[in-house]
Amino acid sequence: MRFPLAVIEEATQVIKQYAEKPFLLGYRISPEEIEKPGITLEDTLEFIDRLKETKIDYLHVSQGDVWRTSLRDQNSSQIVNEVIRDRVAGAFPLIVVGSVKTPQEAEKACKSFDIVALGHESLWEPKWVQKVENGDESAIRYSVSKEDLIDLGIQPSYV
Ligand SMILES: Cc1cc2nc3c(=O)[nH]c(=O)nc-3n(C[C@H](O)[C@H](O)[C@H](O)COP(=O)(O)O)c2cc1C
Repeated sequence: MRFPLAVIEEATQVIKQYAEKPFLLGYRISPEEIEKPGITLEDTLEFIDRLKETKIDYLHVSQGDVWRTSLRDQNSSQIVNEVIRDRVAGAFPLIVVGSVKTPQEAEKACKSFDIVALGHESLWEPKWVQKVENGDESAIRYSVSKEDLIDLGIQPSYV
């Protein structure tokens, strides 16, 4: 934990010294690693306690699915993001990401978490927000062809 906490401390000082406008500082974390040894959910929860002592503006949890259960503990039925949300307990906004594509999926996740991010979907459909705002949801692209990738300037490894 010492390394990320030292990075946060340094970034906080640099923002204080140089930022001329409000400058958000967030932390992005993969809450569990499948490898052993690797980061466990317990490690992450302990780290969150330490993050509460810092001045971060948000925590962004990176997972393949917003609603996934533990990678390491296959017997657990707890949703990792809900466990994290309860531990954060409003200390800073929680951003979640993972397999959210449709406006309905985003809305459902927004009911449980502060902010929902789109990864793949925002690359495939850069105008996702505008299309939802304009009620043009039927024009949202949910998959990409090889030709689309070239048009969008996306490397195939990102699909
Ligand atoms: C090619 C690729 C590289 C990624 N690299 C990282 C990374 O370095 N760090 C990280 O936290 N997440 C990484 N992710 C995970 C994404 O940030 C995101 O959590 C994931 O794609 C799930 O969101 P999505 O289903 O909306 O795309 C990566 C995903 C992809 C496809």
